[in-house]
Parts: sequence; structure tokens; C-alpha cells
Amino acid sequence: MAKKTITDFQVQGKKVIVRVDFNVPVDKERRITDDTRIVGALPTLEALLQQGAAVIVVSHFGRPRGAPEDAFRLDKVAEHLQQLIPYKVHYCPEFVGPVAQAAAAALPYGELLLLDNSRFDPREEKNDPQLAQELAAYGEIFINDAFGAAHRAHATTAGIAAFLPSGAGYLMQKELEFMQPLLTKHPGRNFVSIVGGSKVSDKIAVLKNMLDLVDSLLIGGGMANTFLLAQGYAMGASLVEPDLVATAQEIMALAAEKGVELLLPLDLVCATEVKAGVETKIVPVATGLAEEERALDIGPLTIELFKGAIAKADTIMWNGPVGVFEISEFATGTLALAKALGEAKATTVIGGGDTAAAVQQSGYGGKMSHISTGGGASLEFLEGKVLPGVASLNEK
Ligand code: 3PG
Repeated sequence: MAKKTITDFQVQGKKVIVRVDFNVPVDKERRITDDTRIVGALPTLEALLQQGAAVIVVSHFGRPRGAPEDAFRLDKVAEHLQQLIPYKVHYCPEFVGPVAQAAAAALPYGELLLLDNSRFDPREEKNDPQLAQELAAYGEIFINDAFGAAHRAHATTAGIAAFLPSGAGYLMQKELEFMQPLLTKHPGRNFVSIVGGSKVSDKIAVLKNMLDLVDSLLIGGGMANTFLLAQGYAMGASLVEPDLVATAQEIMALAAEKGVELLLPLDLVCATEVKAGVETKIVPVATGLAEEERALDIGPLTIELFKGAIAKADTIMWNGPVGVFEISEFATGTLALAKALGEAKATTVIGGGDTAAAVQQSGYGGKMSHISTGGGASLEFLEGKVLPGVASLNEK
């Protein structure tokens, strides 16, 4: 790590501001349905508390419009966090202001204060230096453990680092330690990347960047449809992006030029509607889809093709499901790949968001080398972009 990390700081008797990504999924009653991101931040929070720091925790949650909204408060997250750690957790129903300032000032060492949603302040997303300075005044050290929000140049993810000694937390460090090697070409390493998800438009930059790094690129999910269309196959009523046919052709030509093996589906699980209980049919790509048919998962021949590449890999990066895995009729391909990765000898890195959820659903989550807590952040990282939340931290 070129950046300072938590171990580079003496934190005993210090007030430490920690940015986490507690933007967790919740149900209608605001009950947390997946606490992976909270659990992911525990090593950092517990290490600081155990060493006698007073820990002031900051996070965004959802997308409120720059003012407090009850639906986006962090009270439930504070309650949940209290269940997970043996240290006192206080919740402050304000992000910055007199109440938050007083709570931070009064916080005893060895205890934690969770401030309310940073996006309740309109200055947060503008990366306003005044807000960053106001918050920085609550503490003496800044630790960024929010990899999931590191692609945002906001006051609490980036701006604040200009006003305090700053370093990465354990989760941020772990994310970077698994992701960084993906961006460097290692001779002799067989690097396979699986890219899925519904649209090519979301992943053009990742696909292009990956072509310089990988040996094999496996494309599945809705985005594969546009590539198949570009090859001249009939895609029926499938989701396709006709305006990206030229881009798909360009990516295929680039892959050939760079000697990257590009694998596309050979067969598809099709149906006329995207709903549970619908009748499905396996259609070979070469046959083409009938007018009313929609491709919703990869078929058995494709699963075998992809498994062959996975078995030979030393490193695998997977971003994006290869079917509509939320519906069991179209989950087979995604779950089969999760199993194959779980059983592979390779280092396996899973991009966050849907892919992480699919891998957990498969029961093979524990078998992966690393499941990223960043959806958008891991995507931007793989595009080769600088993440402001990382760039702003102090060098070692
Ligand atoms: C995420 O869930 O990807 C991060 O928490 C960032 O959230 P945002 O897309 O609302 O900035």
C-alpha cells in the first residue's frame, strides 16, 4: 500500500473520524436486509475502539436531497451496529451542527458515535471545503474505510482528507490489495474476466480496459445480446442496444488484435416473459431466437464453455450476473458460475452489487477470495479511473 493505513497512526486517546459505507439495503420498514458492508467495517472500528480511540463514524445512506428525511436516517444502522460490537454506540440525529459537535466533543474514549446521513447536508456531494473543515474539527485523524463510496469526490470521502492526517482502514486496504493486482499484467498468469449485467453501455470502459489485462473475456447476461446481434444472430425480443453494435464490433476486433480469447454464449435460456413460472426453452445461438423470444440466461453449452475457461484460470474477476438470477428459472447460469468459481484453484475477486448478492445466494460466497463491498466503486476501479476517496489519503 502506497497510502498510509490505520496501523501508521497512534490512535490511543485520539478522536478518529471514520468514513464508512453503511449504504446498506433495507426493506419497507427500514430493516437491514444485508449487513455485509457493516460487518466489513468492524475490523477497523473495533481496532480503533480497542486501542482507546473515540470513534466518530460518518456515512451516507441512499440518496436524500440535501436535507434530513426520516426515511434516510441512520438510527436503525446504529441499533444494528450496537448488536455487533461490545463497545457503546451512540447515534446522533444530526450530521454536522451544534448537536453533532457537542456529541463528538463529549464522546468518551473507547466509545463510538454514529453521525446521521452525510447527504442531509447539500454541501456533501459538492465536496464543499467548508463542510469538510467543519467535520474535520470534530477529530484529529481521518480514516477512510468506505471503498464502496471511494469513487465519489464528496466532502466526507475526499475533501476532509485535506484537513487531517488521513489513511485507509482495514476494509479499504483489503479491497485495494485484491483489486490492485487486477490492473497489472502479470506474465504467466492466466487472468479470466467474466463480465455480465444487462447493458453494454454500463460496461464499455471496463471491457476496453480489461482487454489490456486479461487472457480470456467471458461475456454473458443481457449485454451479450448486443454482441450476438453484432455477429448477425437473430435475438428476437431480447434486450439489445442497437446503437452499440458498432462498439461491440470494435471490442471484438480489439480482442482479436490483442490476442484475448473472447467467449460469448453458444446457447441461451429463453422465454416470452420475464417472470417466475414462465415456460423456458434452450435456444442455440446459431439457430437464432424467434420474434417473441427473450434471452434471459446462458444455456448449458455456454456454462460448460465458461467452466472450461474458469478451470484453467489463475485469477478470475467477475462483475455482473449472466442471467436474471433473481428469478429461479433464469438463475442456473449465474449459480453454476458461482459454484465453478467457488471450486476453482484461482484467486477469485467478485465485483460488488448484484454479483455479490448472486454469489451469496449460491452458497459459495465463503469460497471466494474476495467479494468487494463496492458496486460502482469496483467498476470505476476496473475502468482504470482514479478513486478520489483513495487518491486523497496521505502517502506512506
Ligand atoms: C453504492 O452503494 O454504490 C455506494 O454506497 C455509493 O452510493 P451512490 O451511488 O448513491 O453514490
